Amino acid sequence: MSNNPSPSKAQTLAARGQFFAGNLSIAYKNPLKIVRGEMQYLYDDEGRQYLDAYNNVAHVGHCHPRVVKAAQDQMAILNTNTRYLGDQIISYAERLTATLPDSLNVCFFVNSGSEANELALRLARAHTGARDLVVLDHAYHGNTTTLIDISPYKHDGPGGSGAPQWVHKVPLPDLYRGLYRAEDDEASEKYVRHVKEVLEKIGRGHLCGFIAESLPRRIISVRSTLKYALPEVYVLLTKCRQDMDALVNTSGGSKVTMSLPT
Ligand SMILES: Cc1ncc(COP(=O)(O)O)c(C=O)c1O
Repeated sequence: MSNNPSPSKAQTLAARGQFFAGNLSIAYKNPLKIVRGEMQYLYDDEGRQYLDAYNNVAHVGHCHPRVVKAAQDQMAILNTNTRYLGDQIISYAERLTATLPDSLNVCFFVNSGSEANELALRLARAHTGARDLVVLDHAYHGNTTTLIDISPYKHDGPGGSGAPQWVHKVPLPDLYRGLYRAEDDEASEKYVRHVKEVLEKIGRGHLCGFIAESLPRRIISVRSTLKYALPEVYVLLTKCRQDMDALVNTSGGSKVTMSLPT
C-alpha cells in the first residue's frame, strides 16, 4: 500500500487491520476516511464536507492558520524541556494565567489530557496524603493504567475489570437519562446524597479528591441539548457539582481536576 499514492478506503481499512490492534474502535459501519480538516469542517476522500461537532482534540478547529504557524515557527527554533531557562514558555504562562482566576497562577505544561489528569492526581495525593477518589459514573479521564482505574466508561466496559477499592463511583447527574431527571426538583440534592454516602463510607482523612469532566460527554449529547437548552443543563450540572465539591472539601479531600476534551 505504501507505493500507492491514494489508497482506496477499502485498502486503508485493510491496512489498518494489519497494523493496528483490534481493540481500537473505528466509528461507523461504513467508516469515514477523513483526508483533511479546515476550521470547523472535515473532508472525506470524496471531497464531502462534514461539520465536526465531535472530534475531541482540535479545540480551536482544524488547521487554524495561526496555530499551524505558531507550531511551525517554534519547531523551527527549539523543542526542549523545562530544565532550561526560556522566555517563550514564561511569556505563554503569563498570557495563560491572565485569562484565569487569580488563584490559578502556577502552570504545569503537559502534552495530553491523560498526562494532565495523571499529574492532577499526583498533586492531589501529595497534597492530601490520601488515596480514595470519588468519580462520576460513565466518566473517561484518559488512557493510562491509573486513569482507566478511575474511568468507569473503561473499567466497566468490555474487557474492563471494574473499579479498584480506592475508586468510589457515584451516579452521573444526568438530568435527561440519569437516575434523577430534570422534572424532579430535588434531583440535584438526590445526586449529592450519593456522594454523602460514599464520603461516610470512606471516612475522614482517606479522601484524596473528586474528579469530574467539565462537560460529561454523556450529558452533553445532541439529544439532551435538544430537550434542555445547553446552558440550562450546564447550570444544573454545575450547581450539583458545586454541592459535591463543598462536600468533598469538608471531608478533607481536594477537587482534583476537570479533564478537558468534550
Ligand atoms: C474527558 C476526557 N479526559 C481525558 C481524555 C484523555 O486525553 P488524551 O487523549 O489527550 O490523553 C479524554 C480523551 O478523549 C477525554 O475525553
